[in-house]
Amino acid sequence: MSRGYPTRLISACTIAVATAGCGSSETTAVDKQVNPELTTATDLSDDVNVTEIDLEAREGRQQYKQGRATPVWTYNGSVPGPLIDVHVGERLLVHFTNSLPEATTIHWHGVRLPAAMDGTLRMQEPVPPGGSFDYTFDIQDAGLFWFHPHIRSDEQVEKGLYGVIRARGKAEPEVDQESIWVLDDVNILPDGALSTYLDDNSKMLGRQGNTLLVNGQATPRFTWRSGALQRLRIVNVANGRFFNLSLAGYTWRVIGTDGGPVPNPYETERLLLSPGERYDVLVVPMDAPKTELTLVNEPYERGHETGEAPPMAVATIEISGEEPLTERSFPETTADVEALEDGPADHELELNEMLDGENLVFTINDATFPDVPLIDVRQGDVRRFDVINASEMDHPFHLHGTFFQILSANGTTTAPERLANKDTVIVPQMSTLRLAARFDEPGGWMYHCHILEHAEGGMMGEIDVEGPE
Ligand code: C2O
Ligand code: CU
Repeated sequence: MSRGYPTRLISACTIAVATAGCGSSETTAVDKQVNPELTTATDLSDDVNVTEIDLEAREGRQQYKQGRATPVWTYNGSVPGPLIDVHVGERLLVHFTNSLPEATTIHWHGVRLPAAMDGTLRMQEPVPPGGSFDYTFDIQDAGLFWFHPHIRSDEQVEKGLYGVIRARGKAEPEVDQESIWVLDDVNILPDGALSTYLDDNSKMLGRQGNTLLVNGQATPRFTWRSGALQRLRIVNVANGRFFNLSLAGYTWRVIGTDGGPVPNPYETERLLLSPGERYDVLVVPMDAPKTELTLVNEPYERGHETGEAPPMAVATIEISGEEPLTERSFPETTADVEALEDGPADHELELNEMLDGENLVFTINDATFPDVPLIDVRQGDVRRFDVINASEMDHPFHLHGTFFQILSANGTTTAPERLANKDTVIVPQMSTLRLAARFDEPGGWMYHCHILEHAEGGMMGEIDVEGPE
C-alpha cells in the first residue's frame, strides 16, 4: 500500500465541472464564504467528565446563498446546529427545548446509548411545541456522529434540523488542520424560500436540492496550506442525495468511518457517502501556493439514471500563499475492532417498492412500517442479516443502537483488511449484503433506509432487545 504523500493521478483541471470552473482564471458563479465552521455548543458544566448543553429547536433564517435569507428550522439558530464536542468516557447532558410549531424528537445517529435516549417514537413521547426533554448518555465510542429528529424526519431534516457530535478518543492522529464537512443539499426557490414540496421524483429518489451545502453554505471556499496534513471528517446529512467526492489528482486516505477509526486505513479516489454515512480521511495538498482545487460531486448511478447527472462543484479549495510545508506523511492509525463471526443469516430483510393503490410505498418483506414484523433478540446476541435489495435503486440501510459489520456482498466475503464498524451502508440495487451486529443494549431499536422519504414511506422496522428478567 502506498504511504506518504497522496498519489497524483491526473492534472487538477481535467474534469469538467458543471457549476464552477477550474482554476482562478475562470469566473465562477459560486458564492465566496471562506472556511465556514461549525459553532461549538457551550459547555455549561464545571465537571470535566460532563458536557452539558442547551439545545433549542426553533425557526430561523439562514444565508445559504449570499444576499438571500432562507427561512429554516434550526438547532440554536443555525444550520447545521452546534457542534457537540466530547471525549470518550464523558457524560453528555442535553437540555432540549422544542420551540417549533410541531412535535419533534432528537435521535443521536450512530451513538451507542440507552434506548430511552434514542429519540424514536418507540422509546419516547414526541416533545410537543413548548415542551422539553433531557437527553443524557455516556460517550462510549470515538467517531463522528450526528443528530436529527426521528418524527416527520423527511421534512424536519430538510428544513435544517441536524448537527454533529465529535467524540475524541485517546489516540487521535496529529495533523496540521482538522475540519468537519457536513454535506447537504436544499431546494432554494428564486425568492430564497426553501421548497420541501414532494414531487413524484423526490418521492422515488428522496428530495434532492438544487444547491449543495457544506456546513450550511453553498459552494464555500476552504483554505489549505500546501504540504499541510489535513484531516477531514465528513458526514452526509442530505435526505436523498449521495455524495461521491473527488479532488482531482488526489486520493483520500480513509482512517475511519461511521463507527470510528478503521483497523486498516486505505486509499480511495472517490469517497462515496449515502445519507447518514461518515468518513474520516487524511489528505496532503501538494499544489503550489495560490492555486485552486475544486471538490467535485461525481455522478453515481444509484438507480433511475441518477448516474447521468453532470458533476457538480461542492466547494473550492484554495491553497494559501504560505510557504509549503515539507515532509508531512500520513501518521500510522489503527483501531481495535473485534470481528463478528460469519455464518448463515438469522434474518432476511427484503427491501422493495410497490404501489399501494396510487401510492408508491417502500417495503421490508412486503410490509410497510409499522406493519413490518418485529424482530426479537436477546441482549448480547450476535445476529446476522441478509439485507436483500430487490429494487432497482440503492437503499442506504441504517441500524440504531449498535454497529454492524459487512460480512459479505453477493456472497463474496469482505476482505479482512476492510473490517469496519458501520451504522449505515449502501445496499446496491438488486444485490444482497450480509451484515452482523451484536445487541448489547436492551430496548427497541429501529432500522430503516436513510433516504428519509423511503423511511417515512414505509421502509423501516424494529428490533426488540430483551434484557435479563
Ligand atoms: Cu439517522 Cu433512524 O436515523
Ligand atoms: Cu431507500
